[in-house]
Amino acid sequence: NEPKLKEVFADCFQIGAAVNPRTIQTQEELLAYHFNSITAENEMKFVSLQPEEGKFTFGDADAIVDFAKRYGMQVRGHTLVWHNQTTDWLFEDRAGGLVSKETLYARMKEHIHTVVGRYKEHIYAWDVVNEVIADEGQALLRESKWTEIAGIEFIAKAFELAHEADPNALLFYNDYNESNPLKREKIYRLVQLLVEQGAPIHGMGLQAHWNLYGPSLDDIRAAIEKYASLGLQLQLTELDVSMFAFDDKRADLKEAPAELIELQAQRYEQMFKLLKEYKDIIGAVTFWGAADDYTWLDNFPVHGRKNWPFLFDDRHQPKPAYYRVAEVA
Ligand code: XIL
Repeated sequence: NEPKLKEVFADCFQIGAAVNPRTIQTQEELLAYHFNSITAENEMKFVSLQPEEGKFTFGDADAIVDFAKRYGMQVRGHTLVWHNQTTDWLFEDRAGGLVSKETLYARMKEHIHTVVGRYKEHIYAWDVVNEVIADEGQALLRESKWTEIAGIEFIAKAFELAHEADPNALLFYNDYNESNPLKREKIYRLVQLLVEQGAPIHGMGLQAHWNLYGPSLDDIRAAIEKYASLGLQLQLTELDVSMFAFDDKRADLKEAPAELIELQAQRYEQMFKLLKEYKDIIGAVTFWGAADDYTWLDNFPVHGRKNWPFLFDDRHQPKPAYYRVAEVA
């Protein structure tokens, strides 16, 4: 049997995967063999945990934590504050208008204390705030109900509340397009601000939704160097390497072409070589899935399109990318 990724990289970083209630069954063997950390793909998002005010639904999240316990895996929590997959009731009063900042903070407190408190013994790190930086333009923050009600302040507030609930948890800011020169400057500014304010933030998550053609290794390196200068732990939190450039609209490939499989292997090898250089700063590398039979990139952003972004194929067999990555360590 092939070397286990978690053992191959034991001296570098944890090897993680996003899972869901289906994949902990269909990919159980693969997950248990190669991975020593998991993240719930959707099951710990606001809408999953508190769809109605005061009615918490922990079933799927608990099952994922139990799975991790069974196999001695670490768990990353994802995510407490985000503009997506969050219920409208959080921001609204009975008449459907926006609530005051005080009401929003009271609801945040209830949610964050309940959720982070529940998993205190089992979740060692939380993505406290996800994707608040604006992709384009001069504005620092993405516009959302969060900013409408509470400006920039809700961000530090979320970290404080999570820290109250579990003083031992590592608290992360997480974002995508993190290697893009413009956006990485903005992400840096936000996190620098939080650090200067003394907010309890301990890490930065680079989602790392990358593809065969970008970002460049230079941009990845620049991002790692820049973020590392803040003195926080870094993690890759949602790594996948799409077979398609972001603006590629093709939807007619039934199988992954051999030349793309080879290109992907080269790309993964180069990335892991680079990541290994920063093993003292990077605590974990988490893939946003485990094998090509299931990825959120199927149908996104192009409907009807299959994708093959991982190290293992749809039958859970190692791809060329797996062997190159395993050799890097
Ligand atoms: C995605 C899930 O993978 C999908 O199943 C869901 O429909 C949408 O969210 N950035 C994040 C993740 O932080 O939470 C997202 O996960 C992918 C992008």
